[in-house]
Amino acid sequence: MLRYIIKGGNKLEGEVKISGSKNASLPIIAATILNSGKSTLYNVPNIHDTQMMFEILKKLGGKIEKKNNKIIIDTSKINKFEIPEDLMRQMRSSVILVGGLLGKHRKATFSYPGGCDIGARPIDLHLKSFEKLGINITKNYGNISCICDKIEGEKIDLDFPSVGATENIMLASVLAVGTTVINNAAREPEIVDLQKFLNKMGAKIKGAGSNKIEIQGVRNLKDVSYNIMPDRIEAGTFLCATAITSGNTKLVDLNSEHITPVITKLEEAGCKLKVDKKTIEIIGPKRLKAIDLKTMPYPGFPTDMQSIMATTLTVAKGTSVIVENIFENRFKYMQELNRMGAKISTEGKTAVIKGVRKLYGANVKATDLRGGASMVIAGLVAKEITTVENIEYILRGYENFENKLFKLNANIRKEEI
Ligand code: UD1
Repeated sequence: MLRYIIKGGNKLEGEVKISGSKNASLPIIAATILNSGKSTLYNVPNIHDTQMMFEILKKLGGKIEKKNNKIIIDTSKINKFEIPEDLMRQMRSSVILVGGLLGKHRKATFSYPGGCDIGARPIDLHLKSFEKLGINITKNYGNISCICDKIEGEKIDLDFPSVGATENIMLASVLAVGTTVINNAAREPEIVDLQKFLNKMGAKIKGAGSNKIEIQGVRNLKDVSYNIMPDRIEAGTFLCATAITSGNTKLVDLNSEHITPVITKLEEAGCKLKVDKKTIEIIGPKRLKAIDLKTMPYPGFPTDMQSIMATTLTVAKGTSVIVENIFENRFKYMQELNRMGAKISTEGKTAVIKGVRKLYGANVKATDLRGGASMVIAGLVAKEITTVENIEYILRGYENFENKLFKLNANIRKEEI
């Protein structure tokens, strides 16, 4: 078991490089199954979740070769179609492998996925969409088997713009007969990155980034090399960490267009930002101002930034109101923050944060990936020592988190218990 020990009070200062995107890497790694040859990926973050995806691919018969900053994936020998239950349970995004397996091999068996405990997180939209594509689904004691002779293009209207369901439909349709149209598709930048990767591999997809995506089936794909987009949530996390410590940092190698709602909210809270296409400089004020926000599907304020922004607002002047519209159970971390002196109350999907002048160091637990990062951010400004346990959650999604913070002048270290 690992934990972070943080001594609060240091302002963040200096420059930090943003890593490749976790949520773009995971579906792209799954998409390599569609290729009969080799896929070379650059800028894949070295985090637990990407390593898990590689482990699953290896179990299915894939080969992974890491050379300096590139990863070569050979999926030509994939000969197993069952995603191991223990790995599936550890990581919800493994459900995205199903689209890859179905698209290429027309069969896949898996169990209900696990992942962060931030809500019920059903996969009904994925399964309904697969059925619409002519795939037979049988459920047996928590195991799900999908099989079909061929996949024919269809029109699919999603009830909700689910990121994972949109990605799974795209993967299942790349090698289908005819054209699949997804209406009410998710518009997240990671979907655009997936389209770019697939098209570079020879797919014919258009519309990603809008709510209508068209996938014209192709017969063959080819070897591909691709550079994964920057992680917009990691960028948002470092912006908030700077804001709460009244710091002054420069973030490089990001795509600022992807984090417009976060930038807008930080400006509203009193931060000064200099925004270029690939860099952002931020200066946090002496004390932040309270703001209100609601999470929404892209291009709205991202749910993955909700806990991080809410934590930043615990020490703001005034009362902030946060509405979480995407996941129904994403306020768990707030109990831990209250143990540090925050004043947060919740009712349904609304949280009310009464800004306090100080947080106090405590022994807290990460409740999920982003909730865990929030504990660290709170620790950066808390009086005395904060200990964050269960940081395995944080390591799932942030590359070199403590090293990056340490280089920015934070007093943080990781230790084994
Ligand atoms: C992805 C991201 C996650 C982010 C989320 C929303 C990855 C690996 N993860 O997760 O970080 O928080 O998008 O931006 O990219 N839903 C259903 N039925 C389904 C699928 C989803 O009811 O079949 C519901 C979910 O319970 C949730 C909402 O739809 O309430 C959004 O989920 P979705 O967009 O699918 O998120 P993920 O793809 O799981």
